Amino acid sequence: MIRFENDNSESHYSREEFNLSYKAAEKALNLLENGSGKGSDYIGWLNLPFNYDEEELGRVLQISEEIKRKCNTFVVIGIGGSYLGARMVIDALSGSFFNENKIEIIYAGNNLSSDYINELLEYIKDKDVCVNVISKSGTTTEPAIAFRLIKKFMDEKYGVLESIKRTYITTDKEKGALRTLANDLGHEAFAVPDDIGGRYSVLTAVGLLPIAVAGFDIEKILKGSRIAKKNNREEVLRYAATRNILNRQGKEIELYVSYEPKLGMLIEWLKQLYGESEGKEGKGIFPAGLIYTTDLHSMGQYVQEGRRIIFETNIAVENSKSEIKVPYDENNLDGLNYLLDKNVDEINKVAAKATTMAHVDGGVPNLEIKIDKLDEINMGELIYFFEWACAVSGYINDINPFDQPGVEAYKNNMFRLLGKTGV
Ligand code: PA5
Repeated sequence: MIRFENDNSESHYSREEFNLSYKAAEKALNLLENGSGKGSDYIGWLNLPFNYDEEELGRVLQISEEIKRKCNTFVVIGIGGSYLGARMVIDALSGSFFNENKIEIIYAGNNLSSDYINELLEYIKDKDVCVNVISKSGTTTEPAIAFRLIKKFMDEKYGVLESIKRTYITTDKEKGALRTLANDLGHEAFAVPDDIGGRYSVLTAVGLLPIAVAGFDIEKILKGSRIAKKNNREEVLRYAATRNILNRQGKEIELYVSYEPKLGMLIEWLKQLYGESEGKEGKGIFPAGLIYTTDLHSMGQYVQEGRRIIFETNIAVENSKSEIKVPYDENNLDGLNYLLDKNVDEINKVAAKATTMAHVDGGVPNLEIKIDKLDEINMGELIYFFEWACAVSGYINDINPFDQPGVEAYKNNMFRLLGKTGV
């Protein structure tokens, strides 16, 4: 169950200002729900929790079992919305150092580093490998290059026929190079729905196949998204209203923070979701992210005393999975006996409280999004909550939260410099 709190931001705006912003959020939500807002061809994610293609879900479940039987290493090739969603859920739910699940998930195609891809090919050479290449367009350069290299590796390691059986494709249902490849060679393939863009696609096969292969219960994730859609309308409106009123008061940066290191990739996903959705037409809150308490020792100084253009959104996990208490030490050289028998999670919570107090005193408003614990249901809730609030925020600012025209600029330059014809 998600809870949103904005008490620690209220000194930055009046009740009337908040009410106006809330009304704008309601209007924006209305636009979204009646499909009359900008980019409404891409709001398929909105009803996805209740509209899921059961047959596709069954196939994702069945194929994920097949992959788990066949391989010990699963290479997920994709970039942006075609990789961050799966990775954030897998990181949030996995052990920090080892996974009881037998299959190891590794990621490719999200950069253009020679060393990364060479080291990956070296690392998987003696593993039992399956591959999932994910690209809605099928033409994105980073995953296309990684796939070409990994396909060559797979063809050489297993022979072409077996390589095809071990390579799963997630792409557009009709168009693009990967769909043509799947049709021509008979790869098992999954479709990204036409009306769902990359960064809103984690609850489709784009995210669900890798997450299921990693051993997590994707039906519970979908259940979580249904819970959010049913229960979180008010939280979404309040969050969208608060971040926008703060933005209008000169808070230009939303700093997503968490005291749980496993949520580092959730923050990366949020940066993409909000940055790519809102940053256009000279508008948009700049999304940044830190993991506390780690980053209190690096960026904490700036947050406390640097430019007053930041507000913080803390994604708080109320209960840790396990307990570990500070033990007694006879010599007490570190002076820590005063914490004897205190749970480390309790100390983490005190650190969070102390930090919030300090930052609020220092002029950094603090919002909080709370979940009970890290599990599939809560991850499903968080995904839907943030997607929903992002679309509402975009409409408050009268932009299209579902396109990304600005991403083409670097690509066009790169293609020209690389001598690609027909650009
Ligand atoms: O959100 C988006 O649409 C983008 O981040 C895309 O997911 C990303 O550019 C990858 O695109 P594709 O799946 O077409 O390879």
